[in-house]
Amino acid sequence: MTTLVPSSTTQSLAASLAAAGVGSLTTPTYDRFADGETLAAVPEFDDDHAIIVASTVDNDAHIELLQLQDAVREAGASDVTTVIPYLGYGRQDTAFKAGQPISARAVARAISTGTDRVVLVDPHEPSVADFFDVPTTIVSAAGLLAEPLSDLDDPLFVAPDAGAIELAETTRDAYGSGETDYFEKERDYDTGEVELTPSDAAVGGRDIVVVDDIIATGGTMSGAIEVLNDRGAGRVFAVCVHPVLAGAARTKLAAAGVERLVGTDTIERPISDVSVAPAVADALDTE
Ligand code: R5P
Repeated sequence: MTTLVPSSTTQSLAASLAAAGVGSLTTPTYDRFADGETLAAVPEFDDDHAIIVASTVDNDAHIELLQLQDAVREAGASDVTTVIPYLGYGRQDTAFKAGQPISARAVARAISTGTDRVVLVDPHEPSVADFFDVPTTIVSAAGLLAEPLSDLDDPLFVAPDAGAIELAETTRDAYGSGETDYFEKERDYDTGEVELTPSDAAVGGRDIVVVDDIIATGGTMSGAIEVLNDRGAGRVFAVCVHPVLAGAARTKLAAAGVERLVGTDTIERPISDVSVAPAVADALDTE
């Protein structure tokens, strides 16, 4: 028997994993004290094997994950798998300036103490898997991103920077036709502003699918959409694995003229139309 233990942030995906036959669900409690501290508990948990499913979308979610790991061990679990569909702090994978921490390593070390293995979905840099002190598997959701797309006219799949080229190619392959291209991107790390240099690919009248791993502030994606619309593209679709959608991201994308915005359920958002459950279930099955 295996019991799935969802964090408060990742309940839909955990339910989809249960529906896929990965395990049965337990219902944790998620409480908060007057001083702001969280308390996640597993009053009904009674199993040897636990799979915790927790996207660390903010600082509270990190603490909740650690609490759930500790709670299932206290309740007798001898084998704990931790599925982290979205790894927060994953983009802080190096010290960009003197004196900075490698935050992805710091959180990975903390998470490793409470688990026997980790499963990640498309972390921003695959090398963050090396920061965990337990066996860590990376699942790619890129092949699922094409699911909601159909009847595209002469499509071009565009990566808004070189780092997303593979995602764009895999999405194109899953769709079954179309070309791929990418933009050059420079980010000013003091202001957060991004500057995109488009390629010379012909975009006039074509359906364009911009594919990225994360939409956070929406700066990168809205910049790409604006450039493409200025150059006479037909419809511009924005697809991503992790729809962080911080602050005014949705408004920025709408103002830029996006035709449709698609993300996955690694983060629960209204646009999480694609479930990564099949890919995660496969990875858990083959461990
Ligand atoms: C960066 O290299 C990533 O692939 C994304 O392009 C980036 O994280 C998106 O961030 P934002 O939405 O804030 O521009």
